[in-house]
Amino acid sequence: MIHRLVSNVVRASFMVAGLGLLAGLAFAEGNAPAQTPPMGWNSWNHFACKVTEADVRSAADAIVSTGMKSAGYIYVNIDDCWQGKRDEQGVIHPNEKFPDMKGLSDYVHTKGLRLGIYSSPGPKTCAGYEGSLGHEALDAQTYARWGIDYLKYDYCSFQGDVPAQMAAYKKMHEALAKTGRPIVFSLCQYGMDRVWGWGPSVGGNLWRTTGDISDNYDRMAYLGFGQNGLERFAAPGHWNDPDMLEVGNGKMSKDEYRTHMSLWCLLAAPLLAGNDLSKMTPETLAILTNSEVIALDQDPLGIQGHRVAQEGQLEVWVKPLADGSKAVGLFNRGESMMPVTAYFRDVGVGDTASVRDLWEKNDLGVFKSRFTAQVPTHGVVLIKVKP
Ligand code: GLA
Repeated sequence: MIHRLVSNVVRASFMVAGLGLLAGLAFAEGNAPAQTPPMGWNSWNHFACKVTEADVRSAADAIVSTGMKSAGYIYVNIDDCWQGKRDEQGVIHPNEKFPDMKGLSDYVHTKGLRLGIYSSPGPKTCAGYEGSLGHEALDAQTYARWGIDYLKYDYCSFQGDVPAQMAAYKKMHEALAKTGRPIVFSLCQYGMDRVWGWGPSVGGNLWRTTGDISDNYDRMAYLGFGQNGLERFAAPGHWNDPDMLEVGNGKMSKDEYRTHMSLWCLLAAPLLAGNDLSKMTPETLAILTNSEVIALDQDPLGIQGHRVAQEGQLEVWVKPLADGSKAVGLFNRGESMMPVTAYFRDVGVGDTASVRDLWEKNDLGVFKSRFTAQVPTHGVVLIKVKP
């Protein structure tokens, strides 16, 4: 049913696993962050520029009370619009919406969570607030003093050629490293200039590979399915980032949000929830916290999945896992229910394999040579295939 593409799963697996191993060894002594894709929450997709300290505190409260923390969501990240003015010494201060950054960080830390913040290598952030250009060392020290654990560094008003851009990111990386505090470094420059090729060399733990996501199936699918081919650039400590989650923001169907979450987990993408955690439906929470789905994203091998077969609007994606099994997504991007088949030779398992449905947490039995499922429009059947 599905036309097979030449599959390089096995070769790619060994290559990327090897890279992952090297990265792991190289960082073992340095207490390196992001050995699996970072998980948490970010204020932008729901609150945008209106975000306040109270919103961030209630996100931290909700992460704990809803069980998201137990599911692995640890970072609570403030995006743009927290910045106030610099004082005479050049020290950045938060604006009136964030009266006590150290107090906020203490609050988040007492919950066993980590606090993230946002700036730009340019003079201004994307929303026109104070950027870090010319103040990198001081800003890094300020973040460390506040107890910040994660920095998203967003290109915005930066100007310069690629070497200048790389130098700017590296400058902040070195400033952060100098503080002695492990701070996840998230590059955000929308995937320009093949950032996946140089992101690690400037200290990036993750780098956006795309423009901004929105709460819309076509946009989400365009970004997510567009990641095919970037798999060899992901490894423990260094992740491709197709942008934050929109799950629960209200403009996609349950099947579309399941596709979003399944795809991001197959991609070993950072999982940063972008909804209002204090007002989640049980359906949203179930999509964000399915332990068997998250386990794919957080698999210690750190191999990013890729497409192994495609026929029209139907796609099969595979992610090799540490236990020797394969995660497989059967996707239907079309407008009506369709059968989708995953051939085991494409998946990279032998002729006979057992299949478990991960969304339904249900063993489906032992299959020979292929597995076929009816997949709803814009939906997915996500399975684990064990030889
Ligand atoms: C850019 C980024 C977004 C967000 C906004 C904030 O658009 O890509 O993720 O951080 O800036 O202004």
